[in-house]
Amino acid sequence: MITLNKQDIKPVFSADEIDARIKEMAALLNDEYKNEEVYIISVLKGAVIFTTDIIKHLTMPLKLEFIRLSSYGSGTVSSGKVNAVDISLPDLNGKHVIILEDIIDTGHTAQFLTNFINHNFKVKSYKFITLLDKKSRREVNINPDMYGFDIDDKFLIGYGLDFDGYYRNLDYIGYLEE
Ligand code: IMP
Ligand code: MG
Repeated sequence: MITLNKQDIKPVFSADEIDARIKEMAALLNDEYKNEEVYIISVLKGAVIFTTDIIKHLTMPLKLEFIRLSSYGSGTVSSGKVNAVDISLPDLNGKHVIILEDIIDTGHTAQFLTNFINHNFKVKSYKFITLLDKKSRREVNINPDMYGFDIDDKFLIGYGLDFDGYYRNLDYIGYLEE
């Protein structure tokens, strides 16, 4: 049942907590890449808010690309099949590449994308960064190079994450109470 009643959403990470963690992540990246140019690849739609917030704190020269993958359909259980809706990318040979994702759940999306990049390009370096890491749900052996928060096995919404397309616009992350 879809509910748009805010009282039914249990907050997990507040806007301020997310903001503080994103600044920490950006500082680590600034330190690591210094003045090296990077290609940021943001996975639509879920990572859009995380992406636009974190890049404001990055200080290296960067280019921003968006790709669109989908795996969930309208339910809350991952299908395990990744659908590349739009994966057109520039030439990434010899480039530092950073993938930005909203959440790693089963890991199928991360694995698909990592294989896709490695198969098509010889990148200078590769990092997979996710705001949320739902470790307990992993079905394939893949881990992010950096994550914002690790989370329990709950279906989360807000800050880019959706349920059936809704709730992406919340400035915090929460879950729907049953
Ligand atoms: P994976 O391929 O199972 O790792 O799932 C990755 C994608 O599933 C993410 O990019 C999200 O779009 C979606 N997803 C996984 N868990 C959640 C959740 O708790 N809330 C909303 N979307 C989710
Ligand atoms: Mg996603």
